Amino acid sequence: MTKAPALGKDLVGLEHLSAEQIRLILETAEAFKEVSERPIKKVPALRGKTIVNLFFEASTRTRTSFEFAEKRLSADTVNVASSGSSVSKGETLVDTARNLEAMRIDMVVIRHPSSGSAEFLGNRIRSNVINAGDGKHEHPTQGLLDLLTLRDKFGKLEGLKVAICGDVTHSRVARSNIWGLRKLGAQVAVCGPASLVPRDIAALGVEVIPHIDDAIRWADALNVLRLQLERMTSGFIPSLREYNRVFGVTRERLERAQKDLVVMHPGPMNRGVEIDSDVADGPFSVILPQVTNGVAVRMAVLYLLAGGGPDWQHQGGGE
Ligand code: CP
Repeated sequence: MTKAPALGKDLVGLEHLSAEQIRLILETAEAFKEVSERPIKKVPALRGKTIVNLFFEASTRTRTSFEFAEKRLSADTVNVASSGSSVSKGETLVDTARNLEAMRIDMVVIRHPSSGSAEFLGNRIRSNVINAGDGKHEHPTQGLLDLLTLRDKFGKLEGLKVAICGDVTHSRVARSNIWGLRKLGAQVAVCGPASLVPRDIAALGVEVIPHIDDAIRWADALNVLRLQLERMTSGFIPSLREYNRVFGVTRERLERAQKDLVVMHPGPMNRGVEIDSDVADGPFSVILPQVTNGVAVRMAVLYLLAGGGPDWQHQGGGE
């Protein structure tokens, strides 16, 4: 394989990637998009590699699209969930990963409820580790697919105004979006109840817009975050109904703004809470294109971490 600018051994977040590395991933993902449109959705770029998808939290989009990405690159894949594995008997994360490594794996994709778990694991095993979401820290491949979707829509990210709306405090997606968008020259604002916006968020170079109508007026694109009820103890919001009334992204609000606006959501959505169905299924929504881009982005990340260069079309013989 031709050597590309290195991403390093692991992908734990966008915080430590340079703008050049992020652009490389987006360009590589752009090239991989067409593989998923072929009748036979497969290239031999990762033939012989073995990848474990280790998921300690629920997932539909991320786990499935990593698995599709791996299979479309011809890697061998195994899925391990915490329920049904020896994690449920108390085996530690590192013991689990070392036992999988003893079976001669090459990469681990991990989702875990603890912030920092992907980096922790990456420092303890020789396989490449890819963070598929660690607690409230980062969800780098979601951030990358959001960037790719915005670039598809607007042609560039420089100067774009993106408002991240909702439960910022509990959101790893928000952090990866902020790092990625800022590095590529976008302006970022956050909007949500004071109880769900970290007090020190401005230190990341973002503006805080307290009212959703002002955020809609300001932004070219909204990234609407899920209210993460499972990570809340109590007292963050008065009620779901009240949250929708004050912060919900509704068709009335968008119509009042009288502007074209791109609306994203990482999923899963709480319809009728942070976003109304009229918006999620409406003309401004790019929620399903985000999911489509997730496969290409994950193909790019897997391929580049394995040391791949720009010549994947010519590797490994025909398929
Ligand atoms: N966006 C996202 O991470 O979705 P899943 O939890 O379904 O993977």
